[in-house]
Amino acid sequence: MTFTVAIDGPAAAGKGTISKAVAAHFDLAHLDTGLLYRAVGARVLVGVDAIDAARDLRAEDLDGDALRTADIAQAASRAAAIPEVRAALVDFQRAFATRQGGAVLDGRDIGTVICPDAAVKLFVTARAEVRAQRRFEELSDKGAVTDFETVLADVKARDERDSSRATAPLVAADDAVLIDTSDLSIDAAIAAAVAAVAAARA
Ligand code: DC
Repeated sequence: MTFTVAIDGPAAAGKGTISKAVAAHFDLAHLDTGLLYRAVGARVLVGVDAIDAARDLRAEDLDGDALRTADIAQAASRAAAIPEVRAALVDFQRAFATRQGGAVLDGRDIGTVICPDAAVKLFVTARAEVRAQRRFEELSDKGAVTDFETVLADVKARDERDSSRATAPLVAADDAVLIDTSDLSIDAAIAAAVAAVAAARA
């Protein structure tokens, strides 16, 4: 049986946490599609052409921890604006989405472009200041030397680029359930997402 859950939203809104929790709750496979663009961004930073990097991407390039740096995030966001980069990554994502047993994919264009027929679509968002504060704490915990204003500027720059690009911009699908996590605890946000998915599975 295939069952696709599409979870989109801006950086640091809580998509990752919610996606992992939904996947675990319903025993679905999970793909963080941001990792695909981050892997491309990481290759660009060492001089590889973005389109070549996207076409040559391999599963072993998707090392989550190594790819979660601020520089790679910005490079990913720039590479993600190139239509040929996005096109090269479509088949892999659709194959994952339709695997037997069901899947959760999180990203920016899952409900709008990659899986317009997903059984459930969630759009997870939060105010930019709240997202920047979360990202700042996450980076500080990892020992990165940064400050809140820099992180906020990064979050806003990425929002602007991701939302204004011509191909597959970050936008909620018309039929997405909106979850604003600004004033929600992690548990409450997860509960809202699980309830939306449960309603579609019933
Ligand atoms: O979710 P993330 O922060 O790891 O994503 C990194 C960048 O990749 C983000 O700024 C935009 C891009 N991206 C995208 O364009 N489409 C996706 N489905 C996922 C990520």
